[in-house]
Amino acid sequence: MAFLSDTLSRVKPSPTIAVSNLAAELKAAGHDVIGLGAGEPDFETPDHIKAAGIRAINEGKTKYTAVDGIPELKAAICEKFQRDNGLVYEPAQVSVGTGGKQILFNALMATLNEGDEVIIPAPYWVSYPDMVMLAGGRPVPVVATLENDFKLKPEQLEAAITDKTKWLIFNSPSNPTGAGYSRAELKSLTDVLVRHPNIWVMTDDMYEHLAYDDFEFCTPAQIEPQLYDRTLTCNGVSKAYAMTGWRIGYAAGPKELIAAMRKIQSQSTSNPCSISQWAAVEALTGNHDFIKENNAIFKRRRDLVVSMLSEIPGITCPKPEGAFYVYPSIEGLIGKTTPKGTQIDSDETFSKALLEDVGVAVVFGAAFGLSPNFRISYATSDAALKEACSRIQTFCKGLS
Ligand SMILES: Cc1ncc(COP(=O)(O)O)c(C=O)c1O
Repeated sequence: MAFLSDTLSRVKPSPTIAVSNLAAELKAAGHDVIGLGAGEPDFETPDHIKAAGIRAINEGKTKYTAVDGIPELKAAICEKFQRDNGLVYEPAQVSVGTGGKQILFNALMATLNEGDEVIIPAPYWVSYPDMVMLAGGRPVPVVATLENDFKLKPEQLEAAITDKTKWLIFNSPSNPTGAGYSRAELKSLTDVLVRHPNIWVMTDDMYEHLAYDDFEFCTPAQIEPQLYDRTLTCNGVSKAYAMTGWRIGYAAGPKELIAAMRKIQSQSTSNPCSISQWAAVEALTGNHDFIKENNAIFKRRRDLVVSMLSEIPGITCPKPEGAFYVYPSIEGLIGKTTPKGTQIDSDETFSKALLEDVGVAVVFGAAFGLSPNFRISYATSDAALKEACSRIQTFCKGLS
């Protein structure tokens, strides 16, 4: 009898975490490595949020809480949805978990049966397909090409739907491309979904507040009220509030689904960290001025990276609407050879050579379901980004 479960063979470890670990290992061994793999802001959690966490500790708010969130946080989340998205939810429609990741996982575990299909626009966040497979479902990736600004077209969505489709996972602004859907682009997708009443929408709005220029964020249930009863609107404090380590994510949707997610959570992790929940109350209800300040920095970095990469013959780097990623294509470099004799036959080879030859860690596109590309996270200092892009320029110049 095998010791490890069959389920385990259906999933692979997160490639983004693997790249970050490899870059950290090389650094620790004394190599000069610039890591552009990690999907987390380099900013500190703002002081007023930290203070709320410290206050919670000092006030003894350190015990178990209700499984899917304290009432104060649920109230703050309802207020947030109303304020930012015009969506009305009551606390019984809200679930709080240990990061956005657990929320998505709970929802899939609570709803998928063997063979149920989940449409996932590609390039996608690495965890979606594996979570679907862990829950016994079948991921159905649909490629949104660079020519279409990495955005799914309504006819592609329509063509991917079968009588087994249970969910569409929607993520805008996107990890890994940064692409953000305009109101009209999203409406064209929700129009398709309205015609298919059995399909649910899991919208991952984690990067809602990280949008630049005049991009206006919108979310499916807001655009199309007919979808309200079959949409799980997921969000979290990790990215916009620089709170990745606090592990708080949340979602709102139909009560029955929220209750099912609570059941899963009650038998796995129970409540998310009590201290983090109080910090999240402050994040959602307190001063938000820092988001604007952080976004001005992210926008400057995005423009820097896009402009330096766009100077490289063979690389195409679109300018995305949000998040803190770019997803350049290396189509024009395929077939070339490095000075050490490695032939660039894929984005994986490219990324490996980039790390070994010039010490820049990026994540290869195959991990996200669209090749040949790579993902850069520009959530790091301007100086590191300038140096990294200049090393990429040198590396590409050296290809023949
Ligand atoms: C698109 C997307 N969704 C969800 C998450 C998970 O966020 P959390 O850290 O809150 O679990 C991430 C984190 O990288 C992400 O990029």
